[in-house]
Amino acid sequence: MNKLKIAAVFLFVAISIGLYSANGNKTNIENEKVEKLLAQMTLEEKVGQMTQVTLEVVSKGDSPFNMKKPWALDQEKVKDIIINHHVGSVLNTAGEVRTPKEWYEVIKSIQDIAINNTRLKIPVLYGIDAIHGMYSAGATMFPQEISMAASWNPELVRKSSEVIAYETKACGIPWTFNPTLDLGIDPRWPRMWEAYGEDPYLQSVMGVASVKGYEGGDVSHPNHVASCLKHYIGYGAPKSGKDRTPAWIPETFLREYFLPPFEAAVKAGAKSVMVNSGEINGMPVHASKKLLTDILRGELGFEGVIVTDWFDINNLVERHHIAATQKEAAKLAILAGIDMSMVPYDVEFTKNVIELVKEGEISEERINESVRRILQMKIELGLFENPYTDYKNYPEYGKEKHHQLAKVSAHESITLLKNEKDILPLKKDAKILVTGPNANSMRSLNGGWTYTWQGEYTNKHAANHNTIVEALKAQSNSILFEEGVRYPEGNPDYRADEIVDIQKAVKAAKNVDYIVLCLGENSYTEKPGDLDDLTLSANQLALANAMIATKKPVILVLNEGRPRIISSFEDKVKAVVQLYLPGNEGGNAFADILYGKVNPSGKLPYTYPRYVNDLIPYYHKFSASTAHNDGNINNNHEIKAQYAFGYGLSYTTFKYEDLALSETTISTDDELEVSIKVTNTGQREGKEVVHLYTTDVVASLSPSVKRLRKFEKINLKAGETTTVKFTINKNDLSFIGHDNKPVVEAGEFIISCGNLQQKFQLSDTKQL
Ligand code: BGC
Repeated sequence: MNKLKIAAVFLFVAISIGLYSANGNKTNIENEKVEKLLAQMTLEEKVGQMTQVTLEVVSKGDSPFNMKKPWALDQEKVKDIIINHHVGSVLNTAGEVRTPKEWYEVIKSIQDIAINNTRLKIPVLYGIDAIHGMYSAGATMFPQEISMAASWNPELVRKSSEVIAYETKACGIPWTFNPTLDLGIDPRWPRMWEAYGEDPYLQSVMGVASVKGYEGGDVSHPNHVASCLKHYIGYGAPKSGKDRTPAWIPETFLREYFLPPFEAAVKAGAKSVMVNSGEINGMPVHASKKLLTDILRGELGFEGVIVTDWFDINNLVERHHIAATQKEAAKLAILAGIDMSMVPYDVEFTKNVIELVKEGEISEERINESVRRILQMKIELGLFENPYTDYKNYPEYGKEKHHQLAKVSAHESITLLKNEKDILPLKKDAKILVTGPNANSMRSLNGGWTYTWQGEYTNKHAANHNTIVEALKAQSNSILFEEGVRYPEGNPDYRADEIVDIQKAVKAAKNVDYIVLCLGENSYTEKPGDLDDLTLSANQLALANAMIATKKPVILVLNEGRPRIISSFEDKVKAVVQLYLPGNEGGNAFADILYGKVNPSGKLPYTYPRYVNDLIPYYHKFSASTAHNDGNINNNHEIKAQYAFGYGLSYTTFKYEDLALSETTISTDDELEVSIKVTNTGQREGKEVVHLYTTDVVASLSPSVKRLRKFEKINLKAGETTTVKFTINKNDLSFIGHDNKPVVEAGEFIISCGNLQQKFQLSDTKQL
């Protein structure tokens, strides 16, 4: 190396060391910029940065949410909130569904005011719920998280999040409120479908993949956005099953099941976290210093921005009754650890916080901590240099390549739950009656958070995509359609359905070979999706029974956000295909599977319950399900799910052989190698998800019957064999003990893979 090169290398190393400070990925330059800004800011400017309002607040007209054109940004209102109240963040949408150009104009107007009309020129941080696609005309709508989980393919999750990031940035928005890492543990809860299923490990793997896709390791990149993990923590388990109602979760279980996905996604670099709107053990999470500061910041080391959920500081007064006034509520939430309040309608929060600081109830140093994090995020996003992106630089927006990825994601997630006598796939010339309220609805294929909050305008905005019946007609000339039951247009009760004419469908069935019965749910999210009964609706059951009575083979297609109870008629249908919420390409993907163009490979990411009283996940305790109890009669409490977690059929068959462990005894310092041979024993190529479970046979806190520790999705040609290898260590064998700390205990363990099991011994006990 010549002297010049040595000098260059030396300079590079010196600059790198200089740029990166001890506190992780923040650079000294960024820190300096934050401190310089902070030093110039008034208290009012600081508190404004902690305030987030909805776009409705700065919209023209009285009814900005009615989706009727024309919608317009009210420049005067924008100036008021930014110049007079120093508001630092705006969220959401209002008015009509915008094109990227229209979004560009909105974001540019807001940023121009923030940059040109304020002393410190701090850009606004705009956030939106692009959870399976951007809220914009022509955007790509991917399958929702519950479907993506059913694909068991983290690479698809990463790639789809990458596309969502790109299309969100095409609209000038740098922050999405996703991924959702609530444990989908209770199908009564209306947001189960927004998360990656019931298992903490699956949720962790998919959450990490999603953060990587959104953020791409550099959120200032024009194609990436900041992610937001939500809703920290325990939101998915309200005791009543209704949204935003209290949860009772002992700390042991909170740490065992609910915390790991957040821990993994924080480690993956997620820039922000949104707080659970509910309360746990009587403590609203927005007021819990233990959960927000001690655990999230202290134990998990989270350095990013903690944002409240909608109106939730007010809700400490109005919903939870733990504060008498808004001011007291603001104090509780800030001292607990929130950085930004999604107020979202008025600026009373800022007024209250300014007073609290002046009265000495909250220190200015505490305010500085939050403002530092918010400024840091704005800097990392590159907003000071590029406060908005230009839609013209995003030529791939809504293009075929993106829709193809959405279709492949739907292919890999759709789950074949029953296929009596291999009735599927069907031949293209088979005569089919398609019926049911989900047969001709883009809205139900997509679910909530599609173009709008409740997704109620999806039929209009996704009209150029195929519903189920349109997709089948595109592939075959032998399709008849009679709706039978429909979701009434414009009914604000999204659970409502009504009979159209079941007899007409019965008559039509006389002339066909098969009935494709499309049942499930309309779109919904949050409180509007609360249910009184998990059983499929009476009208849909009536249609199902009428179709079964025709004696024509019925193929049941489920398009639902949560598993609705179907046990009263499931044994009378010949095939069951679970679509979940497959997005805009869901109809086409289903048609490809029905006709055998694609071999299904999705597996259930939750336990499909058979009865409404049997809502427990696969990792329940042994005593939750007992086949018999000696000494008692009539005491059979065995719980038989309709379909088990991880279940899903293929048009081919797989054989598992030679489950082998590298050792029969290991210590907590060792790793255990597990291998299994899998062969495609059928006639066609297919994908299989290999799951590895462990069972702790005896533990000081009753163990789960089994826990998923690893999985891998493989592709095998007909006749092909492969060996899948996994490595297990002490972390995979540990649990949260009585003292709320992780421990791994000596004794016998069982490894299960496919239909095979092997045992091994752990020689020592260790606190982790
Ligand atoms: C939801 C969040 C969402 C927020 C902003 C809330 O009502 O609970 O999931 O991110 O609204 O739209």
